[in-house]
Amino acid sequence: MRAARMIVAVDGPAAAGKGTLARRLAAHLGLPYLDTGLLYRATGRLVLDAGADPADPAAAEAAARRLRAADLSRTDLRGPAQDDAASKVAAVPGVRAALLEFQRRFGEERGAVLDGRDIGTVVFPQATVKLFVTASAEARARRRHAERGGQGPLAEVAAEMAARDARDAGRDVAPLAPAPDAVLLDTTALDAEAAFRAALGIIAAKVKLSA
Ligand code: DC
Repeated sequence: MRAARMIVAVDGPAAAGKGTLARRLAAHLGLPYLDTGLLYRATGRLVLDAGADPADPAAAEAAARRLRAADLSRTDLRGPAQDDAASKVAAVPGVRAALLEFQRRFGEERGAVLDGRDIGTVVFPQATVKLFVTASAEARARRRHAERGGQGPLAEVAAEMAARDARDAGRDVAPLAPAPDAVLLDTTALDAEAAFRAALGIIAAKVKLSA
């Protein structure tokens, strides 16, 4: 498969299996991989560290503008408080504008697989292939609950996730939505291997068509 400078956009809601899939596709295609959610998570983390409110546009934008690549490797970017902060800063237009350039530069150099919410709609509208990876709300809540070691009630995880999905899909700027030319991949009934195979099939068909 011709992978040189190819952009593969992997968008979709939380815990749909985007990260696992995108990482594997990148390794298989020999492309760099960027988990763009980390940019929003690290921005939210900086706001929390400063004792500010992630929903405060000025505090959130200032944090996004002082973000450094090293912040993305922090080990404290996951968990309920970080999920919430990331989703709040992600709704701030100034934050999205500040993070856009980094994502584009990352992909333009050597091509890339990027996962996120707006890769196919905003960051790379000309992406070679756009996958919109989804799964039922129930399946996604079960996966996130398992990722957290089964701690706490499943219903709580499901409610947190529903609130975050609603915020990600309902915001004014770059809301979570499939690009018109994205191919839908529903992983509700697929394990990681089956999702990978299905995605490779979609990519092969697309690349052949545009070759
Ligand atoms: O993929 P994730 O759960 O790590 O993303 C964290 C938050 O960042 C999520 O609530 C949505 C937001 N996000 C976004 O708005 N745009 C992206 N490209 C990636 C993530």
